[in-house]
Amino acid sequence: MVKVITYGTFDLFHQGHVRLLERAKRLGDYLIVGVTTEHFDEARGKVNVIDSCLERIENVRKTGLADEIIIEDHAGQKIEDIQKYKVDIFTVGSDWTGTFDYLNTLCKVIYLERTPDISSTMLRSNQFKIVKMGIVGTGRIAARFMAEEKFVSGINTVCAFNPESDSGNLFRKRYGINTYSESYSRFLNEIDAVYIASPNETHYEYARKAIIAGKHVLCENPVALNRHDAAELFELAEKQDAVLLEGIKTAYCPGFQQLINTARSGQIGEIRDIEACFTRLADLHSRERTDADYGGAFLEYAAYTLLPIFKLYGTNYKDVRIHSIKGEAGLDLYTKIELLFDQGMATAKCGVGVKTEGQLVISGSNGYILAESPWWLTKKYKIRYEDPNRVEVFEPTFQGDGLRYEMGEFVAQINKIGKNQYLLTKNEIIAMSEITELFMKERMKGKAI
Ligand code: CTP
Repeated sequence: MVKVITYGTFDLFHQGHVRLLERAKRLGDYLIVGVTTEHFDEARGKVNVIDSCLERIENVRKTGLADEIIIEDHAGQKIEDIQKYKVDIFTVGSDWTGTFDYLNTLCKVIYLERTPDISSTMLRSNQFKIVKMGIVGTGRIAARFMAEEKFVSGINTVCAFNPESDSGNLFRKRYGINTYSESYSRFLNEIDAVYIASPNETHYEYARKAIIAGKHVLCENPVALNRHDAAELFELAEKQDAVLLEGIKTAYCPGFQQLINTARSGQIGEIRDIEACFTRLADLHSRERTDADYGGAFLEYAAYTLLPIFKLYGTNYKDVRIHSIKGEAGLDLYTKIELLFDQGMATAKCGVGVKTEGQLVISGSNGYILAESPWWLTKKYKIRYEDPNRVEVFEPTFQGDGLRYEMGEFVAQINKIGKNQYLLTKNEIIAMSEITELFMKERMKGKAI
């Protein structure tokens, strides 16, 4: 009996897939089809697959061509499968020509001609119109967005806005897109969605105007500096059927979700203390160190450190205390937020002028989770127990600088295929803005706002 094996994602199952399976089947007597898991696709950078793994398996099954369907979930698995199933022929489409020649030592490798003019990618872009995106702000963060954009399909940045035309012009030259410096509404007319990466104090106004104009908004944190404004933005977005997403990158990283779910799973017992710390020494001349009103550690990093706390304890804190060490311009070089919940306690620490260990420690009645810097990108974490020899290490997947996960979720929600609204909830954002309000009240005491 000649055994044939082939692999694929088989998203939005199409004629190209059927033809490949038909020909693969004819190569032998028994066809094994490997279907990728979401996790594996994500790990190899395919972050926009629409059908679930079960749906994709079902579509392959319905063709009646596969004698056996298996799941592909890790790199190197093809070698294992070929040996395990005693495969004679490995086959895939000609778009992969050469890639799998290394399997020649184990079995025969055949590249079947790819069916022209059809692909999952094409169907995805036909099904959903490309989201025309504009960026507010043309600084460091906007540049990072441009670099990550190419890894997210369904999105195309067409213009940028910056009232300071010099910076806008530089951005236009660098990325070849149109830039606006005077009329925000003209800029909004050109786009379906906006990414707001301007200075902190301007987020709310830009977001509000964009939502009122019916645009979807992905806004860097903080989306607003007080509870009222944050709640108002969400209400407006609901009314306008617009997506409003806050850009706390960590929330969308697969590894962070895994870490949170590990903590929730009971593995470390009852969670009693959380310590989250994020410090990055900022240049003395940077906005973070010079803008007495909207610079400083809290506005820069507090949301990241509050995120795991709200994810694990919920947002109903009983008490909050904020202490800061202030620097030259009166802004906070280092801030410690202490929170008390029914279940336990938490500390969030952030710094732009004090350096300390940037770690996340979640302590429970059986053990603790330790994620070292940069835990906010969550590439690795450990569980440790009383017995020092017992350590479990997790190394979740993480691609690029992480922004692509947040962008992918934004596009998915716009296309109403986002199933991940739990990643960062309205309640969590509103609770963060409440704490921001407390902090800002203290800061603005005695100052004319
Ligand atoms: N395939 C094919 N002809 C096509 C599309 C795909 O023969 N027009 C083959 C691929 O070469 C592969 C298998 O079908 O062997 C599964 O491909 P998959 O990557 O799932 O489909 P694509 O349409 O190529 O997906 P994408 O656009 O996301 O890359």
